[in-house]
Amino acid sequence: MTQKTLTQMAVEVLTTADGREKTALSHKYAAEWFATRDAGTPLPVSEAEPPLRPARPEKPELLDPRDVPRRRPGSPEGRKAILHAVAHIELNAVDLHWDIIARFGHIKMPLGFYDDWVKSADEESKHFNMVCDCLEAMGSHYGAMPAHAGMWRAAEDTVDDIMGRLAVVPMVLEARGLDVTPGMIEIFKKAKETATIEALEVIYAEEVGHVAYGSKWFHFLCGRHDLDPKDEFHRLVRTYFHGALKPPFNEEKRAEAGLPPDFYWPLADQTPVKKRGS
Ligand SMILES: [Fe+2]
Ligand SMILES: [Fe+2]
Repeated sequence: MTQKTLTQMAVEVLTTADGREKTALSHKYAAEWFATRDAGTPLPVSEAEPPLRPARPEKPELLDPRDVPRRRPGSPEGRKAILHAVAHIELNAVDLHWDIIARFGHIKMPLGFYDDWVKSADEESKHFNMVCDCLEAMGSHYGAMPAHAGMWRAAEDTVDDIMGRLAVVPMVLEARGLDVTPGMIEIFKKAKETATIEALEVIYAEEVGHVAYGSKWFHFLCGRHDLDPKDEFHRLVRTYFHGALKPPFNEEKRAEAGLPPDFYWPLADQTPVKKRGS
């Protein structure tokens, strides 16, 4: 039996289209990686050729964000739409974590780098399935409505730049998740939808870790290349991220994840009303 390498496994996940199949494979390979790590015989990382874009199911239809219909969060339809959008984000997140593994196999990194992203991909796979289960319990499913087409753009823009990838994906996009999830949990609390509240609370707790891994490995690479982390973060976000960051920020959870205010406030959309005095 020829043993697969970690980057080959990552490519297999990326090229699997169906969400439930993709996440089942993701769980299986995460378990294999950690079993070999625990045994002291880690799988080789090696190098592979990931597709520019991951395989996706036929549904949902992917639309320009401006064309995705908005629904009132107070209605059951509105809550289904929110959950559908979350499922879409989670599926993209599964691919984003396997993609950073597959895409940058040529850059020598400590094994802990792979542990962190395999664990993140495993958690995102669980998030996707939990949210799909909630959607299905509400009589809907992933694919029942259109979803945002732009979600893979950050990956394509940073296809040659591992530090740009870390700056934009975990440290900007996933950090944004920490800002908006408490408000989402409130919406489902008002509707007393217990299963969804529990799912979102698991997601909220585990996403802190993903942002923290981003910050950890970003700082590691800044150290390797003798770069100032804050200046480099600002430069990379301005290069690869389109638009300003949106306050209000969840300063507490961001701090927990190793993101200090002087990283994100200078990149924020600060209207005179929102501008802080200090
Ligand atoms: Fe997630
Ligand atoms: Fe995440």
